[in-house]
Parts: sequence; C-alpha cells; structure tokens
Amino acid sequence: MARLQGKTTIITGAASGLGRVAAQMFALEGSRVVVADVVDGNETVDEINRLGGQAAFVQCDVTNEESWKHTIDFAIKNFGSVDVLYNNAGVMIGDDDDPVSTSVDTYQRTMDINVKGVLLGCKYAIPTMLEQGKGSIINVASFVAHMGAATPQVAYTASKGAVLAMTREIAVIYARKGIRANALCPGPVMTPLLAAFLSDDAKRNRRLVHIPMGRFGEPTEIAHGALFLASDESSWMTGQSLIIDGGITAAYVTPE
Ligand SMILES: NC(=O)c1ccc[n+]([C@@H]2O[C@H](COP(=O)([O-])OP(=O)(O)OC[C@H]3O[C@@H](n4cnc5c(N)ncnc54)[C@H](O)[C@@H]3O)[C@@H](O)[C@H]2O)c1
Repeated sequence: MARLQGKTTIITGAASGLGRVAAQMFALEGSRVVVADVVDGNETVDEINRLGGQAAFVQCDVTNEESWKHTIDFAIKNFGSVDVLYNNAGVMIGDDDDPVSTSVDTYQRTMDINVKGVLLGCKYAIPTMLEQGKGSIINVASFVAHMGAATPQVAYTASKGAVLAMTREIAVIYARKGIRANALCPGPVMTPLLAAFLSDDAKRNRRLVHIPMGRFGEPTEIAHGALFLASDESSWMTGQSLIIDGGITAAYVTPE
C-alpha cells in the first residue's frame, strides 16, 4: 500500500522548491495534497494531476490568521481531513546578516513568516487533529538551528531555532492526544531560496567546503525525510529533529 494512503496533507510553500517536490512525492504515495502558498501554486497541482494524484491549490499567507482558517476549511471541504500539516514555507531575506547590520524590519519579517507562520498553522490545524484523534505535524527548521556560522544570517538562524524549540513543546503537549510534531532540519539544497543567497561560485564553494559529502542536497533527499515523518512509519517519534545535511552537523573537520 502507498505510504500515505487515505491521508490529507497541507504543505505550505508548495508552489516552489522543497515544498513542491514534497507535494509530488506525497501525492504519489497516496496523499491528497493541499498546495498552500502566497503565490500561485497551480503548476504544482497540474504536475500532480498529470501524475494521477489528487491535489488542490489554496492561496495562503502563513502570517495571516484568516488565511489559515480558510486553508483548514478548504482542506476539510475538499478532502475531508487534515492528517499531516507540513509547515514548509520560509524565507531568507537578502540583507539578513550579523546583529549589527541586520535591519529590524528584516528580523521582524523573517520571524513573522518563519515562526509565527508555523505557530498559526499549528493553532488552526490542531483542533481538527484533536477531533480526529490523530495528526502529524512537520515543521521545517534548518541545520542552522543546531550550529552557528561566521557567514551569518542572524534573523533566519534565530527563526529556525525558535521553530525547533516550539516543535518540541508542541510535541510534548499533544503526545497523549495522537498528535506528533517533529522538526525537519535540512542542510543546503539548491532551491530558489538558496540559489538567491549563494549567488556566485565563491559563495557556493565556501559553503561546500563544510559539507563532508562534498555536494549540496537534492530536494527529494529532504522530501524522503518528510515522507517518513508524515507516515505512520514514524508512529513512535515525536519532538525530534530529523537532520538531513550531508554530514555537516557531524563534522569538526571535513575531508579535503
Ligand atoms: N533550500 C535550502 O537549502 C534549505 C535549507 C534549510 C531549510 N530550508 C527551509 O526549507 C523551506 C523551503 O525552502 P525552499 O528552499 O524550498 O524555499 P523556496 O524559496 O524555493 O520556497 C519557499 C516557498 O514559500 C512560499 N512563501 C513565502 N512566504 C510565504 C507566506 N507568507 N505564506 C505562504 N507561503 C510563503 C514562497 O512563495 C515559496 O513558494 C523553508 O522553510 C526554508 O527555510 C531550506
């Protein structure tokens, strides 16, 4: 049987990058997928339909409470349940740097999307999951929730640390109610988000030096981790951080 047969998954930020690839993979594994994004996600839906899967797009700004209420209603009206909430939407803003030079606006916008967006998703999906007596929440943090860097993005890093801490707390609160929550912590994967940040060879090579496996990740390598967290295969796993990073967080010195 397909690994997500009979489930409905809401994936935020599924118009692009990691969310888009995960949406396809989840649909091929039998999930009905709500593609939720602030920009048009119909291309993701069309791809899934072409592959014979079930998906629908809903416009959702994760920072907005009304948007979330609508997204949950949309999932229930169209697909009957909310079994998996995959809080994937996130941003890395251009002038995010060290604490002295990062603007307060950049800090605030980053926290609004990356942290408040995750909180609101949980706030509005959890009541439905409680009624169902089950649900899996996947919150996307990052390897930077575990390690610091001298090429800083202080707002982004703070936001991902907050996602990781919040995920643990949510996991503990609902552990006896059938709801699991885990953080997914990817290392660098070449999506539009990272391509914009690592815009030239020097920047890319500086990052590659720190990856023991010597290459960036592929979106499917992250989506496979999400698939495990979404499925019942991870039924005794909650409050954890699943790090998929080519060995970055295991390394003190990387091979030449
Ligand atoms: N790419 C990487 O190397 C990497 C590494 C670690 C963590 N991550 C995390 O993975 C997640 C996905 O990243 P990606 O690389 O696919 O990025 P991406 O930029 O390709 O996609 C992000 C998506 O989020 C959407 N989005 C932005 N603001 C939104 C809002 N307010 N409401 C709803 N949707 C919104 C965008 O429209 C976009 O479709 C992010 O949380 C990111 O921080 C990425």
